Amino acid sequence: MLDISRGLVFLCLIFGLWPDLSKQASLKEEDYYTAGVVEFLTSSLSENVAAYVDIINSENASSTDIIVFPESTLNDHSSTTFVPDPKELVNPCLSDPNATYFEEFLVTISCAARNANKYVVINLTEKQKCEDVPEDTRPCASNGLNVYNTNAVFDRQGVVVSRYRKIHLWVEEKNTTYLPELITFETDFGVIFGHFICYDILFYSPAHQLIREQGIKDFVYPTMWFSQLPFHTAVQIQQGWAYSNDVNLLAAGASLPTPDGSTGSGIYHGRDGTLVSVMRQDSGERTIYVAQVPKYSSSGGGIEKRARRSTPRQVATNSRITLTRDQLEDYETEVIEFGDGTAPGNLSRTLCQGSFCCRFNISWRFLERTDDNASFYSYRIGAFDGLPKRDEVEVNYIRNCGLFSCSGPGIEDCGQLIANSGESQIAFTHLEIGVTFPESREFLLFPQSLLDDLLPLEPSQFEWSQEKASEESYQHEVRFTLKDSQEVSNLLSFTVYGNYYDNECTYGVGSEEEQESCGYKSSASRRDVIGSGLITLLVILALA
Ligand SMILES: *[C@@H]1O[C@H](CO)[C@@H](O)[C@H](O)[C@H]1NC(C)=O
Ligand SMILES: *[C@@H]1O[C@H](CO)[C@@H](O)[C@H](O)[C@H]1NC(C)=O
Ligand SMILES: *[C@@H]1O[C@H](CO)[C@@H](O)[C@H](O)[C@H]1NC(C)=O
Ligand SMILES: *[C@@H]1O[C@H](CO)[C@@H](O)[C@H](O)[C@H]1NC(C)=O
Ligand SMILES: *[C@@H]1O[C@H](CO)[C@@H](O)[C@H](O)[C@H]1NC(C)=O
Ligand SMILES: *[C@@H]1O[C@H](CO)[C@@H](O)[C@H](O)[C@H]1NC(C)=O
Ligand SMILES: *[C@@H]1O[C@H](CO)[C@@H](O)[C@H](O)[C@H]1NC(C)=O
Repeated sequence: MLDISRGLVFLCLIFGLWPDLSKQASLKEEDYYTAGVVEFLTSSLSENVAAYVDIINSENASSTDIIVFPESTLNDHSSTTFVPDPKELVNPCLSDPNATYFEEFLVTISCAARNANKYVVINLTEKQKCEDVPEDTRPCASNGLNVYNTNAVFDRQGVVVSRYRKIHLWVEEKNTTYLPELITFETDFGVIFGHFICYDILFYSPAHQLIREQGIKDFVYPTMWFSQLPFHTAVQIQQGWAYSNDVNLLAAGASLPTPDGSTGSGIYHGRDGTLVSVMRQDSGERTIYVAQVPKYSSSGGGIEKRARRSTPRQVATNSRITLTRDQLEDYETEVIEFGDGTAPGNLSRTLCQGSFCCRFNISWRFLERTDDNASFYSYRIGAFDGLPKRDEVEVNYIRNCGLFSCSGPGIEDCGQLIANSGESQIAFTHLEIGVTFPESREFLLFPQSLLDDLLPLEPSQFEWSQEKASEESYQHEVRFTLKDSQEVSNLLSFTVYGNYYDNECTYGVGSEEEQESCGYKSSASRRDVIGSGLITLLVILALA
């Protein structure tokens, strides 16, 4: 006790503030907690650290239990730090106040978490002595160190209680852990969080694996995402992932819309959609976005009704962002012919790439034009069944059905923003995509959409269903539609996205032996089952 209060006095001298311990702190019994995610424009280490501390102490952060900072916005290779093993419950603020072992910024943030009495999640460049991981037989770098892209979590006292090292690197000169780490941490407000970083979101391990094997429902997710049109912008992916898995996701994005296309932060409550989100289209910012997040663990029912929406979604307009585009040239596509520009129209079309087929039903009406000179988006429908081409990085097999916008007649014009496109020529009055997806051992199907503010449609605006024809079936029927009452203009994409983490074990892929080793009964042996069922039936009838 004495030690703790002495520590507090020491800190208060540093920060000139008494932490008000009774002020916030969601209780275990409450049905929500308060979270903040920080969209952050990085500069130098010293400035970053000062700005982190300012945000942690800010008025807007005062009600938060946990604050998540984005990826790669603190230190870099030139200032790597050791990060204590969470098992040892080290408090850098108390144990190393002069920063002799840990870097000063780690100590400063530990102290800031302690002073503000909050959980704080940061991403940093970590160093570790190779000799500390004797089981890793790969050659060590000549300086004897591994360098990781790491999340570190401080608890309300400043103790490092969790550490996760990124496994799916995105063109980074970093080491990976010998094995992927499945990392979680428990909080005093009764929520267990998993964590992962940036590009990890598109892979099975650890993100999806934590849900499947450990039932984790809450995630912290620092990211520096390079948004791609029309299927891989940051908030669109974050919301779709949280929706499909029905989990809480606290995503904090690095903010550098130009020239990197990096932006995108949000707090998502699974099937309820976005609590708060932002996609900046300017030079970036340093802002905390706060929401009250309903707990899944609170005793049944009522959660939906009590979901509290705090700030509405933020819209960044009239400004700039640099976006790359997906390799749409590899899609099977078809231009939507809208007709004469007056009469409403519709399209009912099945489009296939190989044996993978997408069924589209689309209706539209034309909007009044006030500026004859303005350019408008045209649209295509597309189907894709394959490995996306991305240089130098790991990719997953994708099965994708979507409608997307184009700034001109060629396929190279698709996935391009029209600068200052203020007007929309088309309003879609019905959008419906039906797809039959093969089952896979590890896969995720999710709804995706994007409007020209770079934010997605919300669950109140669409319907999504995923069903198997029967228990024994290895096929999933998916239907994604705009709700009947809805009409949407300024649309950039509307997509059913199938992420096949492990395509080897997808139904219908590979030889019969491979299929059986993945656990799929072959059609022949299924016929046997039906056959033996018939025989049993005949025997029963005969006996009767
Ligand atoms: C974490 O931050 C460090 C330092 O800014 C950066 O080098 C590293 O790439 C970040 N982590 C990830 C996953 O990118
Ligand atoms: C920190 O530095 C001060 C001043 O040099 C010294 O008095 C103190 O003992 C140091 N504390 C620790 C824990 O090393
Ligand atoms: C870590 O990365 C360095 C630099 O790329 C490399 O030389 C070294 O072999 C890696 N260490 C391990 C254990 O993979
Ligand atoms: C605090 O939050 C309010 C409301 O969301 C916002 O308008 C304001 O800009 C925020 N202040 C800071 C310093 O971020
Ligand atoms: C679809 O368009 C055709 C004319 O192109 C029209 O005759 C038909 O009624 C429309 N169907 C629906 C469902 O709107
Ligand atoms: C449209 O463009 C023409 C030719 O460039 C110009 O004369 C006209 O003023 C423009 N109209 C509007 C509404 O901007
Ligand atoms: C599209 O419309 C047709 C004809 O009305 C209907 O049979 C079908 O179920 C609809 N949905 C899809 C996804 O094709």
